[in-house]
Amino acid sequence: MLQEAANARAARGWAICSKALAYTIVCLLALAGDAARAQTDFKLFRDSYPTPDVTIGERLQPQEIENAFAISEVIIASLGRRFADTLIRRDAHPKAHGCVKGEFAIEPDLTPDLAKGAFQPGARYRAWVRFSNGNEDPERPDGEGDGRGMAIKLLGVPGDNLLAEDSSNMDLIMISHPTFFVNDLDDYLSVVSTVNTTSWLRRTAAPLLMLRDIGVRGLQIVLQTTRLRISNPLDTRYWSMVPYRLGEATDPDRTAVKFSSRPCSPVQSEPAGDNAEPDFLRAALSGRLTQGACMEFLVQPRRDPSLSIEDSQREWEEADAPFYRVASILFPPQSFDTAEQNEFCEALSFNPWRTRAAHRPLGAVNRARKGIYERVSHFRREANTFSTTEPLAATGTPPDRPLTDGETRRAPR
Ligand code: HEM
Repeated sequence: MLQEAANARAARGWAICSKALAYTIVCLLALAGDAARAQTDFKLFRDSYPTPDVTIGERLQPQEIENAFAISEVIIASLGRRFADTLIRRDAHPKAHGCVKGEFAIEPDLTPDLAKGAFQPGARYRAWVRFSNGNEDPERPDGEGDGRGMAIKLLGVPGDNLLAEDSSNMDLIMISHPTFFVNDLDDYLSVVSTVNTTSWLRRTAAPLLMLRDIGVRGLQIVLQTTRLRISNPLDTRYWSMVPYRLGEATDPDRTAVKFSSRPCSPVQSEPAGDNAEPDFLRAALSGRLTQGACMEFLVQPRRDPSLSIEDSQREWEEADAPFYRVASILFPPQSFDTAEQNEFCEALSFNPWRTRAAHRPLGAVNRARKGIYERVSHFRREANTFSTTEPLAATGTPPDRPLTDGETRRAPR
């Protein structure tokens, strides 16, 4: 009897041990598999990482590519956790006020220094424009202060795409503040790791860690960016924050520019008061677009080489580098708030590198964004089983009707 009990205990013990061993082996294999996957992904990331254009003032940071890759890993892991059993939203700017149709009409009389790449005098492109809130919370009420996004997708732009994809589209991405809060990708990695941490201790220490990582200047920019309250996305000014080249690599007159957009005429809208309706910006956009609307697109050439390419925390003051109007963004009367169009909007993806060589993104933040957006956006769209095909110029719906010259209004610069 005693012997039987001892045998049974031994058998149970062996069963537990062999299960534990199996779990350990599975864990080790998974870790090894993860490490192998990360290594392959890193190699792909590194091989397609942009080479700095040193002639215009770019310079690679120490460990830049490793840091950029690590940022993408942290974001993907965090999205997987935050949206485990539900639709995976964008990591940044998840809340859309709407994706609307527009026409991007280049000024007919652009001066030759600005008439480069897609900016050919008189050219007109169909466009999709996505307006968004910046905060990572897709449910954040619109009345709260926040950075607001405006992402333009031009359809059917001639020339080779800098992204390895078969698409003739070109993206122009802006936020409602002129500067970005961080320069150094090492610091950005630390910020992203703090923001996405699962550790209680790190969350508690977050304000101090942020101060260490981005300094007083960076914190000021975060506060200024996220404090903004608006009453209508069409009445807001947006900036590229970081620079782009204007001109091919071989163009002796190439320069760096930042860009911006703003309403065509001085804003008439209500001041941004307290509005308790959580999605009132969508309603405001919708209301304005029953009539149609106009914004203008400006570029700011870097006339003075002391204006930094790599320092995205420093604004190029307009006194040193004025803006020039390059295009009108004309929004025909439309109603955009349908289930189908909102779904299309969620599936869209923007990337500053979906562009032409004459508009190549510049600076460390932009270099990092290439692979980060590609990886994060791919993860989001694959997990959601969204199509990854870019909207086509030929079949794209915007605008509803051809624009007349009378609509290409001029506004003071
Ligand atoms: C290294 C710095 C940055 C990182 C890591 C980053 C990361 C991201 C990610 C992961 C997304 C979502 C992509 C997707 O799921 O499709 C996104 C979207 C966005 N980002 Fe950034 N970003 C950076 C810098 C900037 C800067 C400088 C701007 C300034 C214009 C910007 C503006 C936007 C906007 C407006 C969107 C929303 C685009 C849309 O409507 O789909 N980001 N960003």
